[in-house]
Amino acid sequence: MRGKRVLLGITGGIAAYKIAFLIRLLKKNGAEVKVIMTPASCDFISPLVVSTLSGNPVGIEFWNKADGSWNNHVEYGLWADVLVIAPLTANTLSKMANGTCDNLLLATWLSMKSNTLVAPAMDLDMYAHPSTKENLQRLESFGIEIIPATSGELASGLEGEGRMAEPETIAKSIQEYFERQLDPWFTDKKVLITAGPTYEAIDPVRFIGNHSSGKMGIALARELAERGAEVHLILGPTKEQVDHERIQVTSVNSAEEMLKNVQELWKDCQLGIFSAAVSDYRPANVADQKIKKSDASLHIELVKNPDILLWAGEHKSSEQLLVGFALETENLLENGRKKLEKKQLNCIVLNTLQDNGAGFGVDTNKISILDNHNNLQEFELKTKTEVAADIVDYVKNYTTK
Ligand code: CTP
Repeated sequence: MRGKRVLLGITGGIAAYKIAFLIRLLKKNGAEVKVIMTPASCDFISPLVVSTLSGNPVGIEFWNKADGSWNNHVEYGLWADVLVIAPLTANTLSKMANGTCDNLLLATWLSMKSNTLVAPAMDLDMYAHPSTKENLQRLESFGIEIIPATSGELASGLEGEGRMAEPETIAKSIQEYFERQLDPWFTDKKVLITAGPTYEAIDPVRFIGNHSSGKMGIALARELAERGAEVHLILGPTKEQVDHERIQVTSVNSAEEMLKNVQELWKDCQLGIFSAAVSDYRPANVADQKIKKSDASLHIELVKNPDILLWAGEHKSSEQLLVGFALETENLLENGRKKLEKKQLNCIVLNTLQDNGAGFGVDTNKISILDNHNNLQEFELKTKTEVAADIVDYVKNYTTK
């Protein structure tokens, strides 16, 4: 589960204490865990235990009483690869069946992009009640997966069906859920991605670089890995962290280093997506020592860097798919088409810094995709995670056109 983002929702039932064990299991398996608790669940397990074990602050209210900050349910929903509500009480079950939105957990569930798994827990008569059965069926009709309650000793002292599935069973269901998300089209594919800026050294302390954060390329790497591809990510200098069981990261600084790694890997990959903002030039000479200032102006001679994408296009077999990016400030389509042809690409992702919310450093992007069959598809402004999914879908469908 390395790299998986599991959002846990705890509701107010006695089985809540067992979630401490579930968090430990998920963390041990490499997942990132964030937790939202309903106010009622705080009587059954301390938020301090939950935040300590998960390594993240716990969301309880819509806003944080300590500093007045807002707990953004939409951000939780975008972050998570899956939402797991355990234990699910009869009360929260009924609210979900009716779309009630009176706490942070329910608001997050309603704004989730990915799927939800629930592990009901209640006393046997409540579990057997027709309204419970009906509500569970309703949840299933929404696409929610139920991890069924088991039979055994209940907190009331009664014996019967209603015990929450054990943490091991819930962890296994989550693992199986992730396995079902894999797409066979991607599971046998190796993908090469370039991302981030390159830094071209001037002297030991200075460089020529650009504002690229690498977020778009990292989102693509995650999206492809989530679908089952084996991803090689050649990443320029960035603060962003990447940790996923199917992403192998090679960190580089300069364009020449990026090219060297691409040259080693490209022949073994079936798909390449080159999103790096490569510096087109580098200083002709790198000073050994820090350049001292003088009264005269300073001239740095720049030489051309290799075009990495062009190299990949020239060394592409007919089975390989190659996708490039074009960031333009004018004549987007015309310049994009020229790059598509010159670099022998199958598709090119076009974007411009002129769209609000698109470009370097931000979490959103607005793209169009042009392919070498002259199809053009325009997309709305979306989060980079959603944009990555659109690009990956486009590439998959492209092969069947
Ligand atoms: N690219 C590359 N190596 C370079 C320059 C660009 O691999 N030295 C790749 C980028 O990763 C991107 C595509 O080429 O996928 C287009 O990059 P862009 O900077 O938009 O275009 P350039 O080809 O550099 O042309 P220009 O800067 O003149 O627009």
